[in-house]
Amino acid sequence: MDLDVLNMFLIAGGTLAIPILAFVASFLLWPSALIKVYYWYWRRALGMQVAYASYGNYKFCYTYRGRPGPKQSILMLHGFSAHKDMWLAIVKFLPKNLHLVCVDMPGHEGTTRSALDDYSIGGQVTRIHQFVESINLNKKPFHLVGTSMGGNVAGVYAAQYPSDLCSLSLICPAGLKYPNESKFLKQLKVLKETANVHTVPLIPSTAGEMEEMLKLCSYVRFRIPQQVLQGLVDVRIPHNEFYRKLFLDIVDEKSRHSLQENMTKIVAPTQIIWGKQDQVLDASGADVLAGSIPGSHVEILENCGHSVVMERPRKTAKLIVDFLSAPQNTANNKKQD
Ligand SMILES: *[C@@H]1O[C@H](CO)[C@@H](O)[C@H](O)[C@H]1NC(C)=O
Repeated sequence: MDLDVLNMFLIAGGTLAIPILAFVASFLLWPSALIKVYYWYWRRALGMQVAYASYGNYKFCYTYRGRPGPKQSILMLHGFSAHKDMWLAIVKFLPKNLHLVCVDMPGHEGTTRSALDDYSIGGQVTRIHQFVESINLNKKPFHLVGTSMGGNVAGVYAAQYPSDLCSLSLICPAGLKYPNESKFLKQLKVLKETANVHTVPLIPSTAGEMEEMLKLCSYVRFRIPQQVLQGLVDVRIPHNEFYRKLFLDIVDEKSRHSLQENMTKIVAPTQIIWGKQDQVLDASGADVLAGSIPGSHVEILENCGHSVVMERPRKTAKLIVDFLSAPQNTANNKKQD
């Protein structure tokens, strides 16, 4: 989700006027270059550094800020077809003294993409654990955050490697049996009947489909210029084949309900955050989790869709920070130290 790219156009247009607009417009011919410059700029402004870690032949790309210290480190797992820089929106509102790590999920952006790799949720959990080991993040229990597909991975990780974590934030995670069916899951059912994987709403290949996806994922409605939509979809198209394969893997029997099947094994203090108007994964999933994870905290955000991190970055950052400093969670950390 590249909603914040749009912000930049608005800011550029609003404050810096014609010369900058002309500069930006020239970049519209090379949308991928523009987007790279944009993230490079924001990473720099926020003090996030890019780094690589290896596990055998496998390479992980990640960004980090700070070092492991007395406070919990935080690892963040992004969703389907996103990348580590989607977290910049909330990094902006997180305290400078926290050690933050955002990793590109298997096959995404700078992390190895291989046709032979196992992209099921179980396979991704194994890879994320390899990443954690490779940078020694689990020397001390850390806080794990995951959204959407990354939330499914984070929840199963918590169940399978309980001693790695001090606590867990699940932001509208996939992998549950949602009591209410979302608009997206209804659309998928129809697609399944017609066996048409080329029109999955989360894998746009035209400007129009890109617009539909943004509408599906966010509550707030933007009017986005055609050229910008075209730019946003152009940078995705080269990856669409991979996205289709990945999508089939994560909606497969084996992965679709991974979090549901694993949630009773989650022992870390858990926070559940959901946008009330989520049309991709219905917010009724929050009750499912809360019913199975004792003592979990549910936060439902009003006027918010599936892209919680993009739509409500300040609020999400505050919820995470407050949760981390809540007495019961700090007490728990002391015990595990
Ligand atoms: C937990 O999730 C993994 C990964 O998808 C899956 O293989 C396993 O069957 C699930 N259930 C349990 C009870 O572990």
